[in-house]
Amino acid sequence: MATRLNLTSNFFFFIFTVTLLYVAYTIPRHQPRETNLVFYVHDYLTGHDASAVAVAGRTGPESSILHFGTVLVVDDPVTKGPTIESREIGRAQGMYVNSQLDGKGLHLVFSVIFTDGEHEGSTLEIQGADLFATAEREFGVVSGTGKFRFVKGYGVMVTEFMDIANLRAVLKLNVTVRHY
Ligand SMILES: *[C@@H]1O[C@H](CO)[C@@H](O)[C@H](O)[C@H]1NC(C)=O
Repeated sequence: MATRLNLTSNFFFFIFTVTLLYVAYTIPRHQPRETNLVFYVHDYLTGHDASAVAVAGRTGPESSILHFGTVLVVDDPVTKGPTIESREIGRAQGMYVNSQLDGKGLHLVFSVIFTDGEHEGSTLEIQGADLFATAEREFGVVSGTGKFRFVKGYGVMVTEFMDIANLRAVLKLNVTVRHY
């Protein structure tokens, strides 16, 4: 009698375990979503609408961003389209540092703060090398906030417009991120 009871309870324990495992393995996992964003950053060092300023360098704040060692602080408009008249959807705030001895490469560290549009209230943290003479430069998206919490990704930057004499440029950023 005692053995039979033991067998029955063992049987139910087995069924219970199998059911639990089945449920654990078939519940859908929290899959990351992939989002693609294309936006334009207007980086003007001169003019009435200048939004980037050199703050330090080998010859002080007068240092050119085209020379190694210069630090630039930016609060650049971010628009949906390539022209400044197109809808402003955020700001790119942070720093560019000329970090290549021959002057041809920048290190970028900035936040894209979305203030309008479908990503309003969220931010992306961008970091990477910008060898600005190259047609396409890839950079990393290292983190984010809001709907971009736990974000990871990359982007490709292309110079849409460049007036090197006046240090005015428009950059197209095409970002692909995975987030939850
Ligand atoms: C953005 O980049 C992706 C690949 O990363 C590409 O498939 C897509 O066409 C690009 N979009 C634009 C508008 O350049």
